[in-house]
Amino acid sequence: MLILSAVTVVLLVINVKSTPEKSKSSSFYIVPLGTSGGLDESNLSSYLLTTVNESTPNSAYISLDSGTLRHGLEMAIKQNCFSSQSLTAEQFLQEKVKAYFISHGHLDHINGFILNSPNDKSGKTIFALNETIQIIQDDFFNNQAWADFGPHGLKLYNYQILDPLSTNSIPIPNTDLNVRIFRLCHTCPFLSSAFLISRRDESSASILYLGDTGPDDIEKIVQIDNSTYYPRYLEQLWQTMGPLVVANQLKAIFIEVSYSNERPDHLLFGHLTPKWLLKELDVLRSYHSMENVTIAVTHIKPEEGSREKIMKQLKEESNSNYNFVFPRQGEPIWV
Ligand SMILES: *[C@@H]1O[C@H](CO)[C@@H](O)[C@H](O)[C@H]1NC(C)=O
Ligand SMILES: *[C@@H]1O[C@H](CO)[C@@H](O)[C@H](O)[C@H]1NC(C)=O
Ligand SMILES: *[C@@H]1O[C@H](CO)[C@@H](O)[C@H](O)[C@H]1NC(C)=O
Ligand SMILES: *[C@@H]1O[C@H](CO)[C@@H](O)[C@H](O)[C@H]1NC(C)=O
Ligand SMILES: *[C@@H]1O[C@H](CO)[C@@H](O)[C@H](O)[C@H]1NC(C)=O
Repeated sequence: MLILSAVTVVLLVINVKSTPEKSKSSSFYIVPLGTSGGLDESNLSSYLLTTVNESTPNSAYISLDSGTLRHGLEMAIKQNCFSSQSLTAEQFLQEKVKAYFISHGHLDHINGFILNSPNDKSGKTIFALNETIQIIQDDFFNNQAWADFGPHGLKLYNYQILDPLSTNSIPIPNTDLNVRIFRLCHTCPFLSSAFLISRRDESSASILYLGDTGPDDIEKIVQIDNSTYYPRYLEQLWQTMGPLVVANQLKAIFIEVSYSNERPDHLLFGHLTPKWLLKELDVLRSYHSMENVTIAVTHIKPEEGSREKIMKQLKEESNSNYNFVFPRQGEPIWV
């Protein structure tokens, strides 16, 4: 009995550290369907999100990037992530996933969505920057790489272009969520984006999900006269997030760390390391303590030992200023 409870305590401690548990104040429930930054096609960036009401996740989910869908859903169902146990992965995708949010057009963020499109339910909307919608339409749904399931072809999906210059949040159909988009640089001038997902009820609790991004100090545009210009999209994003942190509305930030600190700056290819993530987060922390914001580290490149190294570097260099979590496929996160 003693041994058993000791084991339970150890397990609980490990569990709390890896993924935040359900609590009375949980606003969102996130199921990672894939967490890795490339290579392993069964584990690519993909997160399902829904609201939590009285400790119960609602059944209408949105998909934040869709690198891996079907395999991730099979894992999540096996690990009892959903109350609707009787649904298969395909049925869950059809019935419970209401909309897709694609941060940028790279394959590792879009693969699962494209491959599963033939059996998806019609009428769903794909939300993205105009530039990303163009890639989906021109490079995937072009009747050559894949059939055109978009609004100009078989009309399975609608496109909703989100304007990064608009300060309004817009409602996501069939959910109790709103969305606003922000630009990011992923090797400038190639654009990626961040989604601010907010509850439509009075709590306005929010989650910020970022696609791939490089650091502001590295991401630059070389202009026609060879002068350089730094867009500093992250700084602009933190300016907007500051008041939400102050108001205790921002529950979590999903942000990438692709490489460990050993990676030289000239080989970042539009990604972050622990050092660069901390530099960026310190800008946001200058507005307010980050003690109530969960930082979920995404998109770790699946190199040998890389995950452990990144966890160690973030822990050692962050002075306990941040609550980092490291999502795993099929392990839900409550925030
Ligand atoms: C998915 O990728 C993450 C990050 O690279 C890794 O830690 C994890 O073990 C992988 N999960 C599975 C089920 O392969
Ligand atoms: C959450 O639960 C409360 C109390 O039952 C109810 O009034 C409210 O409408 C629910 N909100 C949502 C989004 O379901
Ligand atoms: C989206 O981009 C295309 C191609 O550059 C352009 O023709 C179109 O006007 C843009 N649409 C919006 C809503 O910005
Ligand atoms: C910009 O740099 C390139 C390569 O260094 C050079 O060939 C070109 O002449 C430069 N253009 C101007 C306007 O200086
Ligand atoms: C964190 O949340 C708790 C509980 O809502 C609140 O009392 C505290 O002031 C918050 N901390 C910060 C730094 O906002």
